[in-house]
Order: sequence, then C-alpha cells, then structure tokens
Amino acid sequence: MIPSADGALVGDRLPVVVVGAGAMGGEWIRMLARSPLARIAGVVDLDVDLAASTVAAAGLDGVAVGASVVEVAERAGAAAVINVTVPQAHRTVNEQALRAGLPVLCEKPLAPTVAEALRQVALADITGELLMVSQSRRYFNHLAAFRRAVAGLGPLSTVNAQFFHADHEPGFREQMAHPLLVDMSIHHFDQLRALTPDEPIAVRCSSWNPPWSWFAGDAAASAEFELASGARFVYAGSRCTPGLQTSWNADWRVFGERGAASWDGDDVVRVEAGASDVEVPNGPEGIDGSFEEFVTALRSSTTPQNEVRANVLSLAMVEGAIRSSERGGERVVIADLLEESLATALADERNEDVAARLASWTSAADGIATPAWGSAPATIASGGAR
Ligand SMILES: NC(=O)c1ccc[n+]([C@@H]2O[C@H](COP(=O)([O-])OP(=O)(O)OC[C@H]3O[C@@H](n4cnc5c(N)ncnc54)[C@H](O)[C@@H]3O)[C@@H](O)[C@H]2O)c1
Repeated sequence: MIPSADGALVGDRLPVVVVGAGAMGGEWIRMLARSPLARIAGVVDLDVDLAASTVAAAGLDGVAVGASVVEVAERAGAAAVINVTVPQAHRTVNEQALRAGLPVLCEKPLAPTVAEALRQVALADITGELLMVSQSRRYFNHLAAFRRAVAGLGPLSTVNAQFFHADHEPGFREQMAHPLLVDMSIHHFDQLRALTPDEPIAVRCSSWNPPWSWFAGDAAASAEFELASGARFVYAGSRCTPGLQTSWNADWRVFGERGAASWDGDDVVRVEAGASDVEVPNGPEGIDGSFEEFVTALRSSTTPQNEVRANVLSLAMVEGAIRSSERGGERVVIADLLEESLATALADERNEDVAARLASWTSAADGIATPAWGSAPATIASGGAR
C-alpha cells in the first residue's frame, strides 16, 4: 500500500513522484533535488528512457522510474505526486493518483477546459485528497509587495497588464489553437486574481496570429474583463514579439480612487498614493514557493490558494476569452460559461461516483464555492502571502 501523506510528512522530506520528465519536469526535478522539504522517490514518463536519463542527469540515485504513476508510487513508497505532464494528460494522471490515495500538485493549466476542471473538483471531493494547481507566478516577492500597494488604492478603476515576448519552445505549445491564452495568459489571469479579490464576471476578447508567427495558433490577443465592482482588467499579449519585451510576469499598472501602482513584473514596484512605501518580503519564489505551500497545506490541513476549486475561475477567464474571440468579440458571461461547463462535464463523465457528485451540485458556482481541502487559508512567506 502507498503510505498516507500525513504519516510521511511530519518532520520528514515529502517523498514525491514527478510525472512528466520533459522540459518543465526537469526544472521540477532540479528544484526538488535541492529542496529540504522533498525527496524524489520516483520519476514517471510515457518515455521511460527519458525518465531514466533525466534522473541520471540530475545526479540522483535510488529513484524508481517507470510509465505508471500508481505502480511507481507504490514501488517507491511515495506520498505525493507532482504532475508535470502536458495539459491534455493532467486529468487522467491526477485521477489515477487521487484514486490511489495520493495528493497532487498539478502544473497549470489544470485542464484544457473548465468542464474537465469541474470533473476534477468532484473527484478531489470524493477522494478527500488535496489537488492543488501550481500557478508558480503567484509566488514572487515583488507581487506580494505590489498586492499590498494595490490594497491601499481603494476602489479600483482599471487594472492594465501587457505581456510581450518571443519564445521558441517547440512541442505542444506551437501546435495549440491558442498558445498565448491557454499556456501563458493563464498565469497573468491567475495573477490578477491573486492581486485583487475583485472577481471577473464577463470578457470580450480578440485573438490573432501575426504573419511571421512560428505558432500554428493565435499567438496574440487583447481582452477586456469586467470585474464584479465594475472595474476593468485590460490585457494585451503576444508570444512572438521580438522587441521591447516585458517580463514573463507581464507589466502591470493599477489605477484606483486614491492613486496608482505599477509593477514591471520583475523587481520594480512603484506607488503614487497617500503612502508610497514598498515593503518587499523575502520568501521562496516560483515553483519553490508553490511546492512550499503544497507541503504546508498537507502538514497543517490548511487550504492553499490554488486548491482545485479556486483555480477554476482562472481557467474560466481563459476559456471565456477564447469563446469571445471565436465569436467575433461577443461578451461572454463567466457565470454562464461555468454552468454550460457543468452540463458538458455531466455529459462527458463516465465514472458513476464523479457523475453523481457533479449531479448533486445545485450549480457550478455551488460546486466551486467551498474548498474540498483544509480548514483555513495557509499563511506563507513569499509572493503568495495573503
Ligand atoms: N509554471 C511554469 O512557468 C511552466 C513553464 C513551462 C511549462 N509549464 C507546464 O508544465 C507542463 C509540462 O510542460 P513541458 O514544457 O515540460 O512539456 P514537455 O512536452 O516538454 O514534457 C511533457 C512530458 O510529459 C510526458 N507525458 C505526457 N503524457 C503523459 C502521461 N500520461 N504520463 C506520463 N508522462 C506523460 C511526455 O512524454 C513529456 O516527456 C505543462 O502543463 C506546461 O504548461 C509550466
């Protein structure tokens, strides 16, 4: 049997299996290998030779490798799974792990659609295991400082973010219909939600592919989200812009009743408001911060920021933007998208227990209202601090 996460956690390094030994899987393996919180017990990939060579390249001994997450986790005595496979594989791998009693930290995007995300919310509910999405761009100390600055601006009028980059990463991204919105803007939309509790309610978007783009799908987009307060989140981005590039975290400006604040996405936060002091914390950033929050949540039964339910709305921003773009810029209401996604989830789900759980929700909004894991928000030091 696979040991329970609780038993393997207190005072120990968490024994984990990394699933997916591609580019980002390699990043995770290098980070976990130096983390005082983790022990890499196994590495899984459909390409077992790749799993073995990634383990060898990281200089690790005694790590189980294979093609099945459940088999490797059992053989290695792992207590948790880090899912770094391609987005289309996330749900299947998460399901296998959760049903084997293993908590999962899953790379973004949780799934290609909100319907698939809702099926995972129901599954996490049934198994009682933690399913957290690693939105690593929440964990930046300057984002934490920026959030505090934004909180001092009073009611907001406009949040503006621009992302302009030129990245060449051959593989699934270059074949996607919406490589910017699905693979990159999910970070920025999720950062918006980390920045303000003012949740998105509707979106209009247009996306396109510049003639010189090396992506098959739309590498550029502009979107305007209506927030619950009536404020607007205005976003523009491109992944094939070889000049005047912004930070990977985008370049942000926020305007409120009492002034304005900006973050260049790296290490410059500016405030023009009553108080203009900027205090920057000193916590772990990126995937280090995400993993620390995962371990903290398991050890203390607290609810991480991106517990699966909370992440659904970030994914709904992406799908809403795509839907609007494909309908010529039509206004898409996020609440309607959520309810349509629940109907799709119910139609697609083949597992009776998951289908019954989905059917028991009075609405999708009801289904994602209460976290399945943890009793209170986790307090962490880095950019993710609340
Ligand atoms: N947080 C970040 O900043 C960041 C950066 C890059 C990538 N990512 C995310 O990480 C994930 C992986 O991206 P990547 O660039 O490493 O992709 P990749 O294509 O380089 O690697 C994915 C690996 O997963 C393996 N795989 C696919 N299906 C599998 C399955 N069912 N079981 C086991 N292995 C399977 C593939 O064989 C491949 O080796 C994506 O979700 C991506 O969006 C996040």
